[in-house]
Amino acid sequence: MQTRQTPYYLYDTELLQRTLEVLNREVQKYTNYEVHYAIKANANPLLLRIINRAGLGIDCVSGGEIEAAIKAGFPSSKIVFAGVGKSDWEIRTALHNDIYCFNVESIPELEVINELAGRMNKRAGICFRINPDVGAHTHANITTGLAENKFGIALEDTLSVIRIAQSMEHIRLRGLHFHIGSQILEMDDFRDLALRINEIQDFLQGEGITLDDINVGGGLGVDYDNPNVHPIPNFRDYFATFHTHLRQRPGQRIHFELGRAIVAQCGSLITRVLYIKQGTDRQFAIVDAGMTELIRPALYGAHHKIESISASNQLQLNQELPFLATEELQTYDVVGPICESSDIFDHDVRLPRLQRGDLLAIRSAGAYGETMASQYNLRPLPKSYELGTLPEEQ
Ligand code: LLP
Repeated sequence: MQTRQTPYYLYDTELLQRTLEVLNREVQKYTNYEVHYAIKANANPLLLRIINRAGLGIDCVSGGEIEAAIKAGFPSSKIVFAGVGKSDWEIRTALHNDIYCFNVESIPELEVINELAGRMNKRAGICFRINPDVGAHTHANITTGLAENKFGIALEDTLSVIRIAQSMEHIRLRGLHFHIGSQILEMDDFRDLALRINEIQDFLQGEGITLDDINVGGGLGVDYDNPNVHPIPNFRDYFATFHTHLRQRPGQRIHFELGRAIVAQCGSLITRVLYIKQGTDRQFAIVDAGMTELIRPALYGAHHKIESISASNQLQLNQELPFLATEELQTYDVVGPICESSDIFDHDVRLPRLQRGDLLAIRSAGAYGETMASQYNLRPLPKSYELGTLPEEQ
C-alpha cells in the first residue's frame, strides 16, 4: 500500500472550493469589486488551479510569484505586483507579461519602472502604495499601515508623487494601493481605512484628480482557535464594511488582496509523534514536524489548534473528535526536532494519551505554512496531498 511520509501538508480542496463560492457570492453583490488572491499565502499548484478556476485575480510580490501565477493559468491582466524592493529582472518579467498594475512604493522605484518600460516601448500601469497611517489590531510583525513602516509612501506625499507619475512618459497612473496588516478580525480597522481613503480622494478631487482604481490590500483574519466552528471567514461583513464606508467614484474599481482568508483553513500540517519525553514538570510530545515546516508559532507566537487524528483511525478533519472523555486527556508541550529553542508548536496542549507513531494535525496551516518552509538543518521541504486521495499510514 502506498503511504505518506510525515510531515506533510494536507489540503481540503472541497473546503477551499466552498470558501471560494462564499467569497464570490459576497463580492459579486457589489459593482466593480475584484479580488486578487495573495499568492504569498500559498503557491501550491493544486490550490492555484482551483483559485484560478474561481475567477480570482492574483497579487504577487516577486518575479517567482508572477511566473507561478502565469504557469497556473492566471491571466496577466489580473496580476498586480507589490513589494518595496522589486529588482530589475522582476520588473522586466512583469512588463514582458503586461501585468495590470505595479504597486509602487517609492519614487526611485517608479523611475526604474519608467526607464525599463521605455526600453521595452511599453507603458506600465501603476498604483502608488500609500501608507494610510491606520493601525490594525494585530501582531506587531504583521501590521504594516502605521507611519513608521518600511512599506508605502507617506500620506502627505500623495499629491507630489502623483504629479511625478503624471509627467512620466512610460507610466500610466491607475490609482492608489493600501494595506494595513494581516490577521485583522475587527471590521472597524477596515472601516478606518475606508474613511481615510475617502479623505484622500476628496482632497485629490479638489486638485482635479480622479482615480480609476483603489486597492485596499488584504488582511482579513481567520479563527485559529476554532477552525471547525468557523471554517469560512466572514466575507459578508468584510465586503459590506467597504461598501458602507468607502465612497466609490463612478466607474471606479475596488481591488482586494486576500491571502490568509482564502487558504488558511483548508490546510493542515500532519506530523507524527516520535517520542514522549517526561521532563521535570512538563511532558513533551516530540514530533517530526518543526519550525522548518511551519514557522508561524516560532516567529509570531501564533496559535494553531493541534488535534490527535490517530485515535479515530482515520483522518476526520473539520469534525470534533467525539471519543474523548476528559479524564483521558494529558497535557503536552508539542515540540519539533529543530535545534532551536523556539521550535515549539504550543505549550500545555490537551490531547488524548499519545504514543510513538501517533498522528497529529496542526490546523489552519494553509496560509503562510508551506510557502514559508525552509531547509534549515538540511531537512527536505514538506510534501503535500489532497484530503481523501490516499489511505493513511497508521
Ligand atoms: N497585500 C499586501 C500588500 C500584503 O503585504 C499582504 C500580506 C497581503 C496583501 C495579504 O494579506 P492577508 O490577506 O493574507 O492577510 N507571514 C505572516 C503574514 C504576512 C503577511 C504579509 N503581507 C503570517 O504568517 O501571519
